[in-house]
Amino acid sequence: MKFQSFTPKSDLQFTPNNLTFFPAVINGEKMNMKNTIVIEGLDGAGTTTQMRLIAKRLEDEGKKVFITHEPTDYPIGRMVREVLQKKIKTTPEALALLFSADRDDHLYNKEYGLEKMIDDGFIIVTDRYKYSSIAYQGAECDIEYIKAINSRFPHPSHLIFVDTTPEACMERIEKRGCEKELFERLEFLKKVRENYIEQFSSLPEEVNYLYINGDKSIEEVEEEIWSWLKTTNLL
Ligand code: TYD
Repeated sequence: MKFQSFTPKSDLQFTPNNLTFFPAVINGEKMNMKNTIVIEGLDGAGTTTQMRLIAKRLEDEGKKVFITHEPTDYPIGRMVREVLQKKIKTTPEALALLFSADRDDHLYNKEYGLEKMIDDGFIIVTDRYKYSSIAYQGAECDIEYIKAINSRFPHPSHLIFVDTTPEACMERIEKRGCEKELFERLEFLKKVRENYIEQFSSLPEEVNYLYINGDKSIEEVEEEIWSWLKTTNLL
């Protein structure tokens, strides 16, 4: 019996031409992500702590704040976590699509989506967003494909990158003493950091962007974020 040869997966290239099978994604209507603060960083960079601190400060100023994170705690996000905890095994591309599906639901779900929360006057503070996908999934899948499956998601008004060295992150992860998740590996985190730096070097002007050296103390990082927020139109 003769088998037909097939193209190995690693040869797959996603060019603007063969991406035309995603027209709805690429030409999708974009919502206005005003009053939204996204915090990004490597695993162990302390983004969750900073998200809570910012939210507290904003609330103390009398603002209506909604804190959230990706992957979410909604059904698709829960499935993502099972993959991260190695309870479900799948391909990197399927995981990338799950992250993207979780994000679509996070933004556009009619009941609890961020689009609705923004319309209702909340300031959103989110621990991770599409930049995580481009940094993490872009480290193990074709990065152009990852950008394409995230093209429906607009930039937020505010973006903070807490930049820590992959070595420092690994040290913090080791100290936690828990079973390591899928991406908690030094070489991988190095690639992720490169992808973060690369994508943040070409953000549109309308995004208020803050780079922070994450080797500083929690209090110093908090102060830096707060002073910066006061210079933007959020407060
Ligand atoms: P997170 O919940 O921030 O980490 P932790 O469990 O340590 O609090 O994120 C979980 C992991 O998911 C983290 O390794 C980053 C990764 N991730 C992606 O790979 N792609 C994505 O799009 C997102 C949102 C997260």
